[in-house]
Amino acid sequence: MRAVIIYNSLTGTTEKAAHRIASELKALRVEATPVPIAEVDEATVADVDLVIVGTWTDGIVIVGQKPAGKKKLRNLPSLAGKKAVVYCTYAVDPGHTLDKLVAEVAAKGADVIGGFAIARHDLVGDVAEFVDRLTPELAGA
Ligand SMILES: Cc1cc2nc3c(=O)[nH]c(=O)nc-3n(C[C@H](O)[C@H](O)[C@H](O)COP(=O)(O)O)c2cc1C
Repeated sequence: MRAVIIYNSLTGTTEKAAHRIASELKALRVEATPVPIAEVDEATVADVDLVIVGTWTDGIVIVGQKPAGKKKLRNLPSLAGKKAVVYCTYAVDPGHTLDKLVAEVAAKGADVIGGFAIARHDLVGDVAEFVDRLTPELAGA
C-alpha cells in the first residue's frame, strides 16, 4: 500500500509528526512519503491508496481554533476517489480543529475515514496511538 502524508508546519512539530507517522507505517508495510503542502500537485496524489493530511491548530489557545493554512488546504488537488485520514497538532486544546479539517479534506472529494489530534508535548505517544487506531482501517483501504 502507498500513502502520502501532506503536512502544513510552521515551527516543525507537524512535520516531525509526519515523519514519525511515515516510519511507523513503514513497519506496517505501508510506504508513506511525507510532502510539505506547498509542494503538492496532482502527481503527488495520483498513485496513492491513502492520503494523510496534517496541519497545526491556529486559534486563541482555547477559543476559535481552526486548521492552519485554510487557503493551502483549499488549493490541494482533487482527492476524489481517495481514502484520507487527517491529523492536527496542538499545544493546549485543539477545539474543533479536527472536525474542520475533516470538512476541508472531504470538500476536496476524499472519503475521510478518520482523524486524530496530536499533542505536541506527547508527539511520540500520540503518533503511536494514531497509527494503532489506523491499523484496522488500513486493512480495508
Ligand atoms: C499563531 C498560533 C496560534 C496557535 N493557536 C493555538 C490554539 O488556539 N490552541 C492550541 O492548542 N495551540 C495553538 N497553537 C500551537 C500550535 O498549534 C502547536 O504548537 C503546533 O504543534 C505547531 O505546529 P508546527 O510546529 O508544525 O507549526 C498556536 C500556534 C501559533 C503559532
